[in-house]
Amino acid sequence: MNENHARLCPGPEWAQHLQSDVLPTVTAGVALGDELLELGPGPGAATDWLRAQVRRLVAVEHDKPAADALAQRFAHTNVEVLHGDATALGFDDASFDSVASFTMLHHVPTRVLQTRLLAEALRVLRPGGALIGYDSLYSNDLHHFHEGDTYNPIDPPALLTILLALGFCDVTIIVDWALKFVAHAPRASRTPTAKESDHAP
Ligand SMILES: C[S@@+](CC[C@H](N)C(=O)[O-])C[C@H]1O[C@@H](n2cnc3c(N)ncnc32)[C@H](O)[C@@H]1O
Repeated sequence: MNENHARLCPGPEWAQHLQSDVLPTVTAGVALGDELLELGPGPGAATDWLRAQVRRLVAVEHDKPAADALAQRFAHTNVEVLHGDATALGFDDASFDSVASFTMLHHVPTRVLQTRLLAEALRVLRPGGALIGYDSLYSNDLHHFHEGDTYNPIDPPALLTILLALGFCDVTIIVDWALKFVAHAPRASRTPTAKESDHAP
């Protein structure tokens, strides 16, 4: 991360923004379950809020010093921090009830890797589990903010296409000053009721 991030992301204003303006909206009506996986937690502004909503939170952070600092900060809590790559997760299929990706997708350098990350999120979700996320939209200001750093924002139609193509269902994407999204792993298949069969083409 560049110096702009080093100033902004650990600060109280960013935490306040995420915790007041973003997290309550993205999680409204979403069942996070017991076990949540957070991808790219950085200094942990979202982690602080999310960990209060679940029994156990596992965070996977690519940057080793950031992962070590976060592990120290959340030692002896319900948070486990791992140094790893969200595009190649080491968990079994269906290990988590929910997966969170906050302000991190645009730091994944290519569309292929972003797609792989979203595929991994789906793989580790239990049936019916939720992916929740927030990311920035392209802007010139943010382009300059990321000078010397990765800046690969994903546009909303591309995100929708990728989520549906991967097999997510029940997808909601909110586009305002940024991008908020919720998508679900399919529930285990069930036999349609007689009434539903009546309406089949
Ligand atoms: C801008 S920070 C956002 C931190 C935090 N989620 C927030 O919203 O405040 C992006 C974080 O994603 C991490 N990251 C980028 N690519 C990653 C990957 N492939 N796997 C795990 N973490 C990654 C970066 O190291 C960085 O800590």
